[in-house]
Amino acid sequence: MSVSTSLAPDWLLPPDDANDLAAGVWPESAGRDDEGVLRIAGVPATTLRERYGTPLYVVDEDEVRAHARRTLAAFRSAVEPHGVHARVYYAGKAFLCAEVVRWVTAEGLAVDVCSGGELAVAMAAGADPARLGFHGNNKSVAELERAVEVGIGSIVLDSWIELERLAAIVELRGAGNGDAPQSVLVRVNSGVHAETHDFLATAHEDQKFGFALEDAAAVVARIRELPGLFFAGLHCHIGSQIFGTAGFQESAGRLVEVHAVLLEGGDIPVLNLGGGFGIAYTSADDPTPIEALASGIADAVARECEVRGIPMPNLAFEPGRAIVGQAGVTLYEVGTTKPVEIGEGVQRLYVSVDGGMSDNARPALYGADFGARIASRRSDAAPALVRVVGKHCESGDIVVDADYLPGDIVPGDLLAVPATGAYCFSLASNYNYVPRPPVVAVRDGSARVIVRGVSIEDLLAHDAGLDEGAGMPVLSERSESK
Ligand code: LLP
Repeated sequence: MSVSTSLAPDWLLPPDDANDLAAGVWPESAGRDDEGVLRIAGVPATTLRERYGTPLYVVDEDEVRAHARRTLAAFRSAVEPHGVHARVYYAGKAFLCAEVVRWVTAEGLAVDVCSGGELAVAMAAGADPARLGFHGNNKSVAELERAVEVGIGSIVLDSWIELERLAAIVELRGAGNGDAPQSVLVRVNSGVHAETHDFLATAHEDQKFGFALEDAAAVVARIRELPGLFFAGLHCHIGSQIFGTAGFQESAGRLVEVHAVLLEGGDIPVLNLGGGFGIAYTSADDPTPIEALASGIADAVARECEVRGIPMPNLAFEPGRAIVGQAGVTLYEVGTTKPVEIGEGVQRLYVSVDGGMSDNARPALYGADFGARIASRRSDAAPALVRVVGKHCESGDIVVDADYLPGDIVPGDLLAVPATGAYCFSLASNYNYVPRPPVVAVRDGSARVIVRGVSIEDLLAHDAGLDEGAGMPVLSERSESK
């Protein structure tokens, strides 16, 4: 079969070997054994398929822990010369379950949550509430009450309504009159246009998060009037999957300017610069190492503080993707392959797998790029350009827009997609009633389920129309009142 390479995006070069696992994209522990089978943390992909089926989320526990340790060390050493502390919150939205909470907290990270559900997971896993932060642009009264009740470390305020809502809750509970006041941060919009997908940029003006920077002084003045609240610092998150330090430095500069003004009203212990540190999804991505990012940001804050003659605050960060992204690999089974004529004699080889946008919505949502490799064997066949697609009833159901795979790929081959550790499980759905895959953690040659899948039986159990007695005529209120 002749498959054109003219369809390849500019960044994708034909590989010398379509069995290669690009460094920095796969977990460090990934490699091929003598039979050519992919192993992650010593566990063969074929064993994982036999034991758990496909699709399957695989997460390398040591890889998560190593990124947590490295990130914490990077930020600590970056701030150390400036005589302040750094706290690193793991942004739970990237991938949260009890085991991940335990891994990252054991490695010294705090955790940030953005819903009552995420808070419940962190608490159930035994996280110290004093080391939790709570975000979100529309936290409900019930969520805020619960957060205050468990003794959450900090709440990141996002609007005037929320400020007053929280003030009322803490007043009712008596915080500030005996209890320690609730620590709050104020999320501001630094106006930095991060270079990333529009939906991943969160600090430009026309979006829903945070207060305008110009309003910060009034917001903080109001917080300082309230005995139940303590203003701990400003917070900003400029976006996600950002390469380079420029955006963070620019944002830090604008925040320090406001921070300096706010210092006139009292001490401010911390400045939280959010997360957003990019990772490599394909061999073409070249993210800045976390150490360079950390020192670039810390030094920028220090300079800005020095210029203004103010003490440098402690810094806080919230990486999510950078902790778990590279640790995840999704395994699929190839179901069909189909050369599709797309005009002028050009063909594209479509490879369909048994999952898709229900387990990885990122290509459909953000046009995100991923790569793939055959996991069940090595092949010497010439590389062919393929598009890997899912089994959903949408043409946008793409898993890998373009990659080179051995041209002899056939149904039954096991396909592995790397760098799926962040925002794949989190964004998963049961679209088309496709079961949701379990998450299996691998470490030192063994594997265990850390999140069970959602089966068709589970889905049917949610369908109230299948309850005993369902389907019988129901006397509605409207017909009763006639
Ligand atoms: N802090 C705040 C306030 C955030 O909103 C986020 C991400 C983070 C930290 C963590 O960002 P990270 O370090 O993981 O980039 N679903 C999208 C990403 C949405 C990010 C939402 N907020 C994706 O799949 O790319």
